[in-house]
Amino acid sequence: MKRLTVKAFRARKGERIVMVTAYDYVGAKLAEQAGIDAILVGDSLGTVVLGYGETVPVTLDEVVHHAKAVRRGAPETFVIGDLPFLSYATPERALAAAERLMKEARVDAVKLEGGEEVLDVVRTLVRAGVPVMGHLGLTPQTASQKGGYKAQGKTLEEARKMLLDASALVEAGVFALVLEMVPSALAGLVTERVPVPTIGIGSGAGTDGQVLVFHDLLGLFEDFKPRFVKRYLEGAELFRAALKSYAEDVRSGRFPGEEHAYSVKPEVIEKLKETL
Ligand code: KIV
Repeated sequence: MKRLTVKAFRARKGERIVMVTAYDYVGAKLAEQAGIDAILVGDSLGTVVLGYGETVPVTLDEVVHHAKAVRRGAPETFVIGDLPFLSYATPERALAAAERLMKEARVDAVKLEGGEEVLDVVRTLVRAGVPVMGHLGLTPQTASQKGGYKAQGKTLEEARKMLLDASALVEAGVFALVLEMVPSALAGLVTERVPVPTIGIGSGAGTDGQVLVFHDLLGLFEDFKPRFVKRYLEGAELFRAALKSYAEDVRSGRFPGEEHAYSVKPEVIEKLKETL
């Protein structure tokens, strides 16, 4: 598999692009082996890996650290690094953050949340040669200002603003756009009207691509199952059962068996005992 270039990614407008999040070496390796088109090192890192409960506390150091592991696990896959909250509050900060993600973690592109309020930042990054993916709809870093984790763009005013934001972001230079929790009809309309691929999460089937959070699609959190997640594995159940079996085996002496151990010539141990 050959790693997509930004140009090739953009040219896949109209095709079904498959994206998943990953945060570590093994997750990235599995995603690459599965033939996933692109990996997002999302700041959902804060919720699914670091246990912060939200994305706001995630730091740039943390994203860089995890993105490095992802790059090592998926050297042939297009990787996007999320810019964490406030790391792109000014164009200067955004450039410094993107520099770290691209030079240290070797990501192919960065993603940031927001519409017209981030246009200056997008322009600065793109002018400097940083490929930028936009993110509209529910933007978790500012979810509280949007009334929490709920679908966005339901009123005429909000829907119109989303269309305007999408076009403005494209004009500012984004090569793709994530649409999160946007009603299907609106996501479809945005997709029709922008010349770059849209990647949906909770936004129906009308976007060019789809993205899901690794832990959600593998069912690693039993108590979190929003409507838009399809589970392809009951991971929590399976992992817990395996861990329980391991604990039972150790406690009962069933593990380790002969087949898990290494041998040494008996005379070596005999001689050793004589020296004791
Ligand atoms: O951080 C993340 O995982 C994301 C996706 C949900 C798009 O931004």
